[in-house]
Amino acid sequence: MEIVETKQALNNRIAKQKEMGKTIGFVPTMGYLHEGHGSLVLKAKEQCDYVVLSIFVNPLQFGPNEDFETYPRDLEKDSKYAEQLGVDLIFHPSVTELYPQYPSLTIVKVNSLTNVLCGASRPGHFDGVTTIVNKLFHIVAPDSAFFGLKDAQQVAVITQMVQDLNMNVRIVSCPIVREPDGLAKSSRNVYLNTEEREQAVVLSQSIDLAKQQLQFGNTDFTQIRAEIHAQIKSQPLANIDYIEILSFPSLSHVEKAIAGEQIIIALAVKFGKTRLIDNCIVTIGS
Ligand code: PAJ
Repeated sequence: MEIVETKQALNNRIAKQKEMGKTIGFVPTMGYLHEGHGSLVLKAKEQCDYVVLSIFVNPLQFGPNEDFETYPRDLEKDSKYAEQLGVDLIFHPSVTELYPQYPSLTIVKVNSLTNVLCGASRPGHFDGVTTIVNKLFHIVAPDSAFFGLKDAQQVAVITQMVQDLNMNVRIVSCPIVREPDGLAKSSRNVYLNTEEREQAVVLSQSIDLAKQQLQFGNTDFTQIRAEIHAQIKSQPLANIDYIEILSFPSLSHVEKAIAGEQIIIALAVKFGKTRLIDNCIVTIGS
């Protein structure tokens, strides 16, 4: 496995692989890798000949009061893990390598889908995501790119961008990887203290309960949302940002369950300064 830091070095490696007729699988990340990222790499290895993993904490997707400076970073540990997983190439550019002019004058923006959920709570966040993912797609030129449904809105937004801009990349979405108690794995989980970590399990528990309710035929989303709200509120350190039930992937508001439709139950909850998200996508039974 190699680590390269420049676009030029990356281009050379990719061009060689393409000359040999190899397919390129791409896993974009911000590093501090865990098994959630690992699952994307394993899927990429199943489907592609050569796997590129990028590690880049993208300043453009962080708000002014967010954790860009303190976001956890550990290239040495990440590269060991990536090597074990069978990554072929790590792309680890500097901010100036990717943004010679910062902030970049050109922004890629997906409308509508970015006005809800995390897009509403974190203004500008998805413009940062779509801009960097667009840049990375141009630099890596992958056949397929792998994203986790932990960030389901991100998957919906990127899929829309690829479709709208006729980008020649196949987007593959992969299931959420969880800790044994149900907490979705996240690089930000390291911020949680012992008490917060214990209480954070309420996210997946309340989603499971809501899922069961839907499966037992409760179609009243207002009531389901209220129950999730009450369960999360029972944890004293939890501060609710949003609890939403929307159609997926169109992310529009729905009042009632309609058989055969796909919906997302999505939450964002803060514990201290740490903002956690979780979701589950359910197809309404007939
Ligand atoms: P990051 O948070 O590092 O996540 C990289 C990829 O790993 C994303 O596709 C994310 O959905 C996936 N992932 C994270 N936790 C997961 C889990 N528990 N189970 C499954 N997949 C998981 O998402 C980003 O970085 C950035 O926005 C990025 C796309 C790299 C653009 O900067």
